[in-house]
Amino acid sequence: MDTVAGGRTVGMVGTGVIGAGWAVRTLARGLDVVAWDPASGAEARLRAAVQRAWPSATKLGLFPGADPTRLTWVDTAEELAGRVDWIQESAPENETVKRPLIQTLAAHSGPEVVIASSSSGLLPTNLQEGCKHPERILIGHPFNPVYLLPLVEVVAGEQTSEAAMDAAVAHYDDLVMHPLVVRNEIEGYLSDRLQEALWREVLHLVNDGVATTRELDDAINYGPGLRWAGMGTNLTFHLAGGEQGMRHMLRQFGPALKLPWTKLEAPELTDDLIEAMADGCEEQAEGRSIAELERLRDDYVISVMRSLRPLDLGAGRLIAEREARIHEAGSGSRWTAGDDAENHLVAAPLALYETVVEPDWVDYNGHMSEWAFLTAFGWASDKLFRYIGIDEGYRAAGHTFFTVETHLNYVKEASLGEPLRFTTQILGVDSKRLHFFHAMYLVDEAGAIGDLLCTTEQMLLHVDTGTGSTAPILDGPAAALAAVAGAHADLPVPPQVGRVMRIPA
Ligand SMILES: NC(=O)c1ccc[n+]([C@@H]2O[C@H](COP(=O)([O-])OP(=O)(O)OC[C@H]3O[C@@H](n4cnc5c(N)ncnc54)[C@H](O)[C@@H]3O)[C@@H](O)[C@H]2O)c1
Repeated sequence: MDTVAGGRTVGMVGTGVIGAGWAVRTLARGLDVVAWDPASGAEARLRAAVQRAWPSATKLGLFPGADPTRLTWVDTAEELAGRVDWIQESAPENETVKRPLIQTLAAHSGPEVVIASSSSGLLPTNLQEGCKHPERILIGHPFNPVYLLPLVEVVAGEQTSEAAMDAAVAHYDDLVMHPLVVRNEIEGYLSDRLQEALWREVLHLVNDGVATTRELDDAINYGPGLRWAGMGTNLTFHLAGGEQGMRHMLRQFGPALKLPWTKLEAPELTDDLIEAMADGCEEQAEGRSIAELERLRDDYVISVMRSLRPLDLGAGRLIAEREARIHEAGSGSRWTAGDDAENHLVAAPLALYETVVEPDWVDYNGHMSEWAFLTAFGWASDKLFRYIGIDEGYRAAGHTFFTVETHLNYVKEASLGEPLRFTTQILGVDSKRLHFFHAMYLVDEAGAIGDLLCTTEQMLLHVDTGTGSTAPILDGPAAALAAVAGAHADLPVPPQVGRVMRIPA
């Protein structure tokens, strides 16, 4: 129970919004999924949901072997329990549904199979009562959309073993999530207590006619919401207190905190209130379908997480972690000694990076902005670095390349969502300098390389980040670069190389 086997099969019980989200995250990790749900038409709905979410999962990054068809449907909970290494239960939030279901799953699975419930607030002690091997039953509470948001709250019941908790943390970490162990078993856990406090207040404000659903969403979107992705309530308020931080904030707002500004009890959910909430949200949707809004949400969630990446904040850390792990798990994308030119083991040119034109790369015309071409080439360079053995460890040890000169040649425009493939040619390398050329192509419908869109030629210097001065490339990457340069020596020099810009007299 304390190890995470690479090729494990994960069972999804209940395949509504959350079960489908788990399926996508797990399939994107390159694992097999077995699913069951008693509702008629559930299999078709799940397969459609996986197809809908797959482009978003692809943007986040797929592990080798990731394939939406590695999804098997079974007809009973008992069959599922006997076929899988891990069970994620995502049935309706109702103890009278979940308890007998988990008992059945426990009765038909081996004692080493962890059964994690996606419950949003039920106590695991109650869910494990009367189950066979209750020590492997716990809560793994995710957040919608599960295939993008990394948080999962892990909660033990009174009978849950430490080994099962360790296995859960390892399983969710393997899915590149942030497992937050809730150390004390409480209803609603941590995140939903915070979310519900806000939601209860929203219901009161709508019920009392104080504000509309749109105004209340604006009150978050344009302000506090922007801060929350990178820093939570506490660190944010610490900064709002000036030099004295939280101490000053509490002294200043202490009296207001005692005023009955907010209400802890939810208002009565009358038909009028439900109508006001639903009407407000439909007005905000402005005719857009749930599927359209889901796509929009996925795009901005991915953009926010990516923007946090260079700052190493919140979910941004996991974006970097995911890239590194996908690369690590990939085969053939890292040079190893013996991959020499004579054996044709080094591609000429290299083709290490593929992507699609991202929503945040395009301008108001839907075309890729000029700066975005350089961003995309930056990712192609990242792939080259990983290929030659320059990764987080190499950089953390104080070695890296700095770009000192870049030439871009724009050939054709690229539009939102178009698939791109990059090739990389090493033009020259010595002990401290690296000269290379990337070309960006459209991929045609048959998956073949299509029109040339843009090229870049770059000169980089290898530096010691401790001293800030140039330093020799370390042995491993130097050997890799020498082998690639050897394999590329006979390639024709692209016509864009060495170009100078001028208007002839
Ligand atoms: N929706 C969210 O934002 C969210 C977030 C985190 C956790 N959760 C939790 O995830 C769980 C599922 O929520 P959801 O939003 O996906 O609900 P949902 O209604 O979308 O899906 C529930 C699914 O369970 C199936 N089901 C019904 N009876 C069942 C049974 N006896 N055995 C197995 N499956 C059964 C239904 O057919 C349905 O497909 C709940 O515990 C919920 O609290 C929900």
